Amino acid sequence: MDKPKYYITTPIYYPSGNMHIGHTYTTVAADSMTRFKKLTGYDAYFLTGTDEHGQKIERKAAEAGVTPKQYVDKIVDETKALWKLMDIEYDDFIRTTDERHEKVVQKIFRKFYEQGDIYKSNYEGYYCTPCESYWTQSQLVDKDGVKVCPDCGRPCELAKEEAYFFRMSKYQDRLLKHIEDHPEFIQPEARKREMVNNFLKPGLQDLCVSRTSFKWGVPVTFNDKHVIYVWIDALSNYITGLGYDVDGSGELYKKYWPADVHIIGKDILRFHTIYWPIMLMALGEPLPKQVFGHPWLLNGESKMSKSLGNVIYADDLARHFGVDGVRYYCLREMPFASDGNITYESMIARYNADLANTLGNLVNRTIAMNKKYFDSVIQQPGEVTELDQDLRDTATGAVQRVIEAMDTLHVADSLEEIMVLARRSNKYIDETAPWVLAKDEAQRERLGTVLYNLLESIRIIGILIQPFLPETGEKILAQLAARPEAGTLDSAAVFGGLVPGDVTGEAVPLFARIDEKKKLAELAAEAEAAAKAAAPKEEPKEEPKPGKPEITIDDFAKVELKVGEVVASERVKGANKLLVSQIKIGTETKQIVSGIAKWYSPEEFVGKKVVVVTNLQPVKLRGVLSEGMILCAEDEAGNLAVVSTEKDVQSGAEVR
Ligand code: ME8
Ligand code: MG
Repeated sequence: MDKPKYYITTPIYYPSGNMHIGHTYTTVAADSMTRFKKLTGYDAYFLTGTDEHGQKIERKAAEAGVTPKQYVDKIVDETKALWKLMDIEYDDFIRTTDERHEKVVQKIFRKFYEQGDIYKSNYEGYYCTPCESYWTQSQLVDKDGVKVCPDCGRPCELAKEEAYFFRMSKYQDRLLKHIEDHPEFIQPEARKREMVNNFLKPGLQDLCVSRTSFKWGVPVTFNDKHVIYVWIDALSNYITGLGYDVDGSGELYKKYWPADVHIIGKDILRFHTIYWPIMLMALGEPLPKQVFGHPWLLNGESKMSKSLGNVIYADDLARHFGVDGVRYYCLREMPFASDGNITYESMIARYNADLANTLGNLVNRTIAMNKKYFDSVIQQPGEVTELDQDLRDTATGAVQRVIEAMDTLHVADSLEEIMVLARRSNKYIDETAPWVLAKDEAQRERLGTVLYNLLESIRIIGILIQPFLPETGEKILAQLAARPEAGTLDSAAVFGGLVPGDVTGEAVPLFARIDEKKKLAELAAEAEAAAKAAAPKEEPKEEPKPGKPEITIDDFAKVELKVGEVVASERVKGANKLLVSQIKIGTETKQIVSGIAKWYSPEEFVGKKVVVVTNLQPVKLRGVLSEGMILCAEDEAGNLAVVSTEKDVQSGAEVR
């Protein structure tokens, strides 16, 4: 019989900087879920990747003096190396710059346009570049009098541009019904209420899906001024990665879509539970079965993020705690629904308590005792006492409990079940006291039974822990010299997989205990060295030249200057220095606020030809939108005059 299929994805991350422990968390969780599904007999397919377009990456690349593609290539290489280090076994890695992706995204966009889901209009709003999100004024948060992005706390820029919009409201009722009919669709439950009450019920705004203000994106095929805005581009990865095509999809897509689960952070739940399902409805494709928005890993008080610069990196942690130490911490410390806080102290505590003292010790002691008392030969177990039965029940019962927890994606609970078994086994050692039995020749068979039971318990732990800590699971099964058939999940549900007469391997410590003081000192020294290395080097001091620093012709070329004609002008209410004027520049009219009311009355200003900076970021001055700047000259005596051309030229003429 064919194995049942399972398709699981992570977000595709922005390669604007290196992946940190938050990205690692999601990826390790998805990897563990995939491995677990494979263990339980599924044909599981795991997709991850990178979301490479957008203004932020364009800017980062420019700052680094490389092309956007060069910039992301480097980070993608580093990301893949990190996933390799972390034992992530993905089936495919999709990049939004892959041709296979771009081509299909263009077709998807065109299809939406042709069927009337996308229309052209103008966008005006507050834009947060680090988050690549537009916000309405009411969504902005007040921080010391400055309106900042509700996500990252940075100032937003007022921006306006021609843009395409997706008619989200058209699908709103269908989506609401879907969510109500499929209670498992959005997890955890509390998030679902948030999406329904905060976004769907109040009514969906149409989503802006293109940009003209930057170039680094997938071009709109029927209007090359526009690139497809990141979310349509990004979300499509889940199907383009499987070979979806508007004109007929490939085998992988037919086999694996719809996704069984999208694993994401709660920061992007809205995009995945509202926009993405609506996009799929518009394509006429089935919706993913589940979207799981996990909580955040916090560093101290705040969310770790590349934009905030308070990040911890998994590869740094792996040097101190080992790969499985980091995997364990991520999976264990992250509760299902509430945020987890990462500190070195809690990492060390977790590592010592669970991995070194409980699991590592259990395996090490048992293997060593089997060697000492029986030359490593696995003994034939004898009579089963009540105590033995309790251990056996805990062990075989753990299998079902782990499966149940994993069925609802409670990864931390699964690991706890495994630890419960390890703790029960350690207690069994204390209760049976093998070292006492060893002193009495008459107890030889009992001693053999006790060790057999412990080895079996460890075998079951080794099998169950493999999806989460692959290397540790493998090492445990290798030390037991378990035969392949004693390494399957089915075999874990039955006590008695190890074969008497087989010989266990050498006891190799799995996790060495960490000295907390020493480790904290080491980590602090490393952090200090890193801060020093990152500090800007002192530039040799030069005599300051009078005036502004020298610029290149390219610097100057960034400023767009045009001749414009003042067609209307009036005073700004409540601001006696300001005029607000309408300036005709070629075919366009811009509104500009200038501090010239002391020198020009509105009446005399109208009709003048002036020189305007036309590509200045729009701002609001005293609440009035200003979309540029009129050039003026002012001398030391305080005389001011607007700059005009020496002969009359047409408005719209470029000044160079
Ligand atoms: O949002 N705690 O990319 P991104 C837990 N490109 N998880 C965290 C985390 C933290 N502190 N920080 C990041 C994007 N993550 C888009 C996604 S998908 C079609 C496009 C994880 O680089 C978490 O999974 O900002 C979060 O959703 C994701 O990284 C955001 O990664
Ligand atoms: Mg983000």
